[in-house]
Amino acid sequence: MPVLHWTSRLLYSSRFSRHLTMNQDRIYSKPLAQVGQFEFDDSVANVFPDMIARSVPGYSSMLAMIEQITLRHATPNSQLYDLGCSLGAATERMRLHAPTSCTLHAIDNSQAMITRLRDRLKETSRTACKIITHENDIRSVSVENASVVVLNLTLQFVPCSERLPLLQSIHDGMQPGGVLLVSEKVCFDDVKEQKLMTDLHLDFKRAHGYSELEIAQKRTALEESLVTETLTVHIDRIQACGFCQVSVWFRCFNFASMIAIR
Ligand SMILES: C[S@@+](CC[C@H](N)C(=O)[O-])C[C@H]1O[C@@H](n2cnc3c(N)ncnc32)[C@H](O)[C@@H]1O
Repeated sequence: MPVLHWTSRLLYSSRFSRHLTMNQDRIYSKPLAQVGQFEFDDSVANVFPDMIARSVPGYSSMLAMIEQITLRHATPNSQLYDLGCSLGAATERMRLHAPTSCTLHAIDNSQAMITRLRDRLKETSRTACKIITHENDIRSVSVENASVVVLNLTLQFVPCSERLPLLQSIHDGMQPGGVLLVSEKVCFDDVKEQKLMTDLHLDFKRAHGYSELEIAQKRTALEESLVTETLTVHIDRIQACGFCQVSVWFRCFNFASMIAIR
């Protein structure tokens, strides 16, 4: 019987996420002859709630605030987008407070994630707004009439050169006054700050039960697929797309969440 870390118990005993499975992430616990590139495949999807809770400081706060911001900004008859939705943790939070006349699009290009999300949605309430799941690349999605768009820890997996066109097309498909929420792992220009925030993040992972081997092998796996940028780069790019206001609403070590108003 795998031991479930206390943070996972806390997060997933919440009434909102009771359908998420709670398998413990042991993917990198044994030495691997060769560490392949990180993929959101079946093995990751099986342990994803535990993995993200133990890897991203403040993840539960990000979800809680996505819920709160949706309550304020989702407008009747508009569309909401959860881009890179994984198992739909943010999707569920958005659905709780979106007007029932809204349509919520949950999009991910991982078949493993979308299949599990679809299974889970069969068991949840049909009285809230309509959810449409898409197994698709977020770069080929056309955003239309959107009041809330969420990129929760997803943009970091899109090649840097493709981030501006993606954000521009999101901006162009949003209603005036609509909100874009972007959470990312970030890096720092200042070498000392970079080291301090990295060390604090590593301590967070150790405190949540990851061994040095697990940390090292996962870092190798993510090296090419997760590319961080500074908050300044993120904010400048969001502004360049035409968003009239950008603010950082959350920060914990090397993770940050921004809100941009169209
Ligand atoms: C760290 S997870 C996101 C977590 C999720 N948003 C949440 O709040 O629980 C990143 C997700 O983005 C998806 N993803 C990465 N690049 C993508 C792309 N180009 N198109 C669609 N999905 C993508 C991955 O498959 C993965 O499920």
